Amino acid sequence: MHGKVCIVTGATNGIGEVTAHQLANMGATVVVVGRNRQKTAQVVEDIKRASGNPHVDGIIADLSVGADVMRLAREFRARYNRLDVLVNNAGALILTHETTPDGLEMTFALNHMSYFTLTNALLDMLIASGTSEQKARIVNVSSVLHARYALDFNQLQVTGSPFNGYKAYCQSKLMNVMFTYELNKRLQAQHAPVTVNALHPGVIKSGFAKNNTKGIWGVIMPIFLPLYFWRITPEEGAKTQIYLATSPDVEGVSGKYFDKCKPVPSSPASMVEADWQKLWIASEQIDADRLKKG
Ligand SMILES: NC(=O)c1ccc[n+]([C@@H]2O[C@H](COP(=O)([O-])OP(=O)(O)OC[C@H]3O[C@@H](n4cnc5c(N)ncnc54)[C@H](OP(=O)(O)O)[C@@H]3O)[C@@H](O)[C@H]2O)c1
Repeated sequence: MHGKVCIVTGATNGIGEVTAHQLANMGATVVVVGRNRQKTAQVVEDIKRASGNPHVDGIIADLSVGADVMRLAREFRARYNRLDVLVNNAGALILTHETTPDGLEMTFALNHMSYFTLTNALLDMLIASGTSEQKARIVNVSSVLHARYALDFNQLQVTGSPFNGYKAYCQSKLMNVMFTYELNKRLQAQHAPVTVNALHPGVIKSGFAKNNTKGIWGVIMPIFLPLYFWRITPEEGAKTQIYLATSPDVEGVSGKYFDKCKPVPSSPASMVEADWQKLWIASEQIDADRLKKG
């Protein structure tokens, strides 16, 4: 990975942090994207020290906010002249209804719109950095939970009381897969030297879902997480995204959904091609509206 420049979002914890660390171990220049300045600086220093790689950098952005995602892209462009790997990893399960400063439902904004906006803001750099022998790579971290729901176009942003945060999460992870497929179609149509794949990382003992501390969730989650969620370590969970970001085995492989480093079928709902474009157009519109406001 020497000479390659990689961005990992949500790299201050969990599988994102492990991914950034491993990419640095392999000699890449790594940009850690985090929302907390102090935590991000600490992770950058830890990775530099442990990997012995001085080319580790941090950029701060709240990825749930459109203007912040665009500022992150601008800051990256000001510092680097190439981008070889973009790992869209930051995401969360948010069980209470929250609204971003842009007025979007939080899960939708963070888990789907940040992937959409950041990727599109940096796509020209990825295209310029890839070659036919070594394509640039986009890796979208989804989840097996993408298969729990079909996409409800009347409620891309889940509303209603009581708020169904589980549905919002599952839908957002379905959007990650559909976004991957539509982007792949668009990249192939222009013969762009960029691949894009989605993945399920496993069910991991990370910081995932620990944010749900309000009301009844503060009682349920400390019992539920160890029982049903904590199956594998972040090191184990990061394997598939590291594989997709770096392995020569997947050079040129694009538009697939992976689990345990193998391409596997995604849900029937994710395969409806007309819906990929419909989601893309809706996301473009939402992005334009929020950036106009911001
Ligand atoms: N854990 C699982 O079992 C599991 C299963 C399937 C899929 N996934 C997916 O894997 C990805 C990573 O999850 P994880 O398990 O590593 O979770 P995690 O330990 O909670 O890490 C999530 C990362 O996202 C960052 N983040 C959260 N909100 C953000 C915001 N508004 N702006 C910028 N960064 C933000 C967090 O920052 P802080 O450090 O500041 O909190 C953290 O670095 C997610 O996309 C998740 O959906 C996880």
